[in-house]
Amino acid sequence: MSVLRTKHAESGPGFDNSQHADQGFSHGRVMQPGVDTSHGAILYLEDITVSFDGFKAINKLSLDISVGELRCIIGPNGAGKTTMMDVITGKTRPSSGTAYFGQTMDLTQMTEYAIAHAGIGRKFQRPTVFEQHTVFENLELAMKVDKRVRQTLFARLNSEQRGKIEAILTLIRLNGQEHRLAGLLSHGQKQWLEIGMLLMQEPQLILLDEPVAGMSDAETERTAELLNELRGKHSIVVVEHDMAFVTEIAQGEKVTVLHEGSVLAHGTMQQIQADERVIEVYLGR
Ligand SMILES: Nc1ncnc2c1ncn2[C@@H]1O[C@H](COP(=O)(O)OP(=O)(O)O)[C@@H](O)[C@H]1O
Ligand SMILES: [Mg+2]
Repeated sequence: MSVLRTKHAESGPGFDNSQHADQGFSHGRVMQPGVDTSHGAILYLEDITVSFDGFKAINKLSLDISVGELRCIIGPNGAGKTTMMDVITGKTRPSSGTAYFGQTMDLTQMTEYAIAHAGIGRKFQRPTVFEQHTVFENLELAMKVDKRVRQTLFARLNSEQRGKIEAILTLIRLNGQEHRLAGLLSHGQKQWLEIGMLLMQEPQLILLDEPVAGMSDAETERTAELLNELRGKHSIVVVEHDMAFVTEIAQGEKVTVLHEGSVLAHGTMQQIQADERVIEVYLGR
């Protein structure tokens, strides 16, 4: 486990899952190390800068995400949206700034694996499902289990685990299709399956990078419904270009506009759409 530092002196104890290791194993699951959200926020980015050979893809970016929030982040191509997700998931290290998961977990000091294990789940732009496996098997493989018991998983699915898979199949609109090979699904269905696989991991924070890119209008509409069903149950950050989609899921919540690696504007969709600077750089009207 990586080095963890305490951001605020008054915050609670940092996580230590060593004492739970045996207990986690006996349940066939890896215990989720607790993220300390006692101050109401699950993610804090402060003054993050990412330089690629002197070019600042992210430039003093600050952003907080509250527990249970569904935050949409929009911005033109090259604004730094994917790079921001790379920083949060440990794929890219910032040149400066701080990134905390809850009060105590310093993301800039954790490996990608440790970050995923701590409860941050990410969906990349392109679906990466196991094409030669069925929909059901994909969800089963994604289930949060200890690697030591994974090989016996197929024989050990209990009714609770089955119930969970059934619930997710319904949520992702693939009930009745669970025995199809994932490779035979439409692009949109693969995206939903991957969202379902993320949910099987029970992440505390979900990052979705352009989830409706390449989807049909009908699929986009159903994805908006899906995200609206997840609202409040998870903390979710959605990066998207599609304004109609963002309007559907923002629902009066705050939207952040990124431009040249910084926050250009922050507000409800109505406020954003009336903002002259946003109109200039993004909406192009
Ligand atoms: N590994 C990299 N090396 C150099 N430049 C990069 C790298 N990754 C991203 N960039 C640049 O950083 C900027 C932001 O990219 P990105 O985060 O992918 O934007 P977005 O997702 O908002 O379209 C772009 O100008 C991109 O070309
Ligand atoms: Mg991107």
